[in-house]
Amino acid sequence: MREILLSRSQVHQGSLLVINRDHPLLPGDPVSLTAADDRRPEVLLERRAARLLTLCIRAVGGWDAIVPVSGWRSQEEQQAIWDTSLAEHGAAFTRQYVALPGCSEHQSGLAVDLGQAAEEIDFLRPAFPDYGVWGAFRRAAARYGFIQRYQKGKEAVTGIAWEPWHFRYVGVPHALLLERNGLCLEEYPDFLCRPRTCSLPGGRQVVVYRAPCSGAEAALQLPEGCCQISGDNADGFIVTLWGRTA
Ligand code: DAL
Ligand code: ZN
Repeated sequence: MREILLSRSQVHQGSLLVINRDHPLLPGDPVSLTAADDRRPEVLLERRAARLLTLCIRAVGGWDAIVPVSGWRSQEEQQAIWDTSLAEHGAAFTRQYVALPGCSEHQSGLAVDLGQAAEEIDFLRPAFPDYGVWGAFRRAAARYGFIQRYQKGKEAVTGIAWEPWHFRYVGVPHALLLERNGLCLEEYPDFLCRPRTCSLPGGRQVVVYRAPCSGAEAALQLPEGCCQISGDNADGFIVTLWGRTA
């Protein structure tokens, strides 16, 4: 075993942050951004998310039919989207479909809105059907680390309406655990109050659990081997232990 000491501020860093109106994104290290794909160089995403998105779109044969519409947003851009939506659609619509500036996971670079390729694409609510390559993308997404973040039936938990176009990169084991257990990201930290095992395609076993951070720092005892740690953006760390192929 080895001990890792983490400070409380690290609870707000990592790829598994729950970002919503109760848990804003705090200013942190700059994210390494790149074009979501070559067709829309202005749509930026965190590097790993961009690579996995391209792989998933290619795997379902969606290169001509699936378009990245919106990726990373600055605070100023999220504010401008909020203000424009408020003026054009009113407060009720805006609260349902636009996260408060500072509370949008687009600001982390880990979220992407995808649209059905068309002459005109609605920026706030792009069409992303459940049939054809779009449906195939949705069903393949977890194997590439993406979840459909705002599901039907979870509106009271997420605070956001059903958004079939909005995908969030969380990494493969987490996307599979969330999908297999019918959870949204807000429900994930509680679900991990005990260790959960995820079998990956190919047979590799991954164990995931949450370690609370109640004081100024947390000392985590970790086994030797490959491990990843992310904050949950509230009061704990999510630990991912990568085991061997079974
Ligand atoms: N449409 C999502 C909720 C956002 O603005 O981040
Ligand atoms: Zn979005």
